[in-house]
Amino acid sequence: MGLASAAAQAPTNGLASTPPMGWNSWNHFAAKVTDADVRATADAMVANGMRDAGYVYVNIDDTWEGERDAQGNIQTNQRFPDMKSLADYVHSKGLKLGIYSSPGPKTCEGYEGSYGHEEQDAASYARWGVDFLKYDLCSYMDVMKLHDPKQDPQTANAMMKAAYEKMHRALVKTGRPIVYSLCQYGVGSVWEWGPSVGANLWRTTDDIRDLYRSMALIGFSQAGLEKFAGPGHWNDPDMLEIGNGGMNADQYRTQMSLWAMLAAPLIAGNDLSKMDDVTKSILINREVIAVDQDRLGIQGHRIGPPQIWVKPLTGGAKAVAIFNYVTDDEAEPTTLLMKDIGFTGPVHVRDLWAHKDIGILRDSYTFTVPQGGVVMLRIWR
Ligand code: GLA
Repeated sequence: MGLASAAAQAPTNGLASTPPMGWNSWNHFAAKVTDADVRATADAMVANGMRDAGYVYVNIDDTWEGERDAQGNIQTNQRFPDMKSLADYVHSKGLKLGIYSSPGPKTCEGYEGSYGHEEQDAASYARWGVDFLKYDLCSYMDVMKLHDPKQDPQTANAMMKAAYEKMHRALVKTGRPIVYSLCQYGVGSVWEWGPSVGANLWRTTDDIRDLYRSMALIGFSQAGLEKFAGPGHWNDPDMLEIGNGGMNADQYRTQMSLWAMLAAPLIAGNDLSKMDDVTKSILINREVIAVDQDRLGIQGHRIGPPQIWVKPLTGGAKAVAIFNYVTDDEAEPTTLLMKDIGFTGPVHVRDLWAHKDIGILRDSYTFTVPQGGVVMLRIWR
């Protein structure tokens, strides 16, 4: 699919003109998340400056669901006593609320999914004041297998698309603007058809883990998907692990930088009520966020080897990120040739992690990238 046809199919809900930013409960709280955790997160996002830096969505992942009532309406479980009042609270802080479900009968954690209740569930979400839905394939895979035990990939894909489109239509029918986030781990080249079923974002890979290997494998494997992203419809290489403890600061700076270069959704996944200053300085680096949120909405591409990524920005500037993705080599000086990133003549160079103007340079810039880390620059004429 070319750029033109992807744009023609882009969803028309007018949402996510830049990659969604916010927080999701899964990476830290997993199946234990409660109403109180979500309220504390909203409070923290206001107090620590995340909201003002652009993080807006407070997303509850799996395990909020209860049983259905006699009329088939989805209910919350005892850890979420009143979803409407939680949404009101989150809204009162100038934030938005996200929720989670599955097109299958069960979610990945075995809670109630939306299968056969799509319109009813969408109506409940709208009534509660939900602004974002992550719709996770999970047990719908069993539905696909039951329908076609031979598992013809074409049949499976058609069923999957239909299931995602069904919820899209149900969301539209509510009349409430709800960002639609597909989670089916990238199967069936979802980037080619996500926009046609109303997706504002779609996961491109399996679940991220709080390990450098997992993050780097996912992040660096996004090369080539850039032509499928744009305003309103984004590739989603999964949530941020920054602050969860499994990587060092350089490695977390790599995730933040790479996700920004990829115009990826920036969905924090740590406990925001207990954030150290280093974590804060990574998640709230406004210069890096500005690269992610640039209005052109062009996903960066790799011009390496090694890992040099370039992202065109408004006004003819470019963001350039140079990663030292090998963690056991000595960090050695690297030289960036300006002609390799499309600049001739003098250019302004600013270091977005040092928060420092390097000055006006010609031809090249030499620097050392820490192991597992990154140097991220903004370059303009
Ligand atoms: C899947 C998704 C994760 C998370 C869990 C919840 O694994 O990919 O992001 O939502 O389900 O059960």
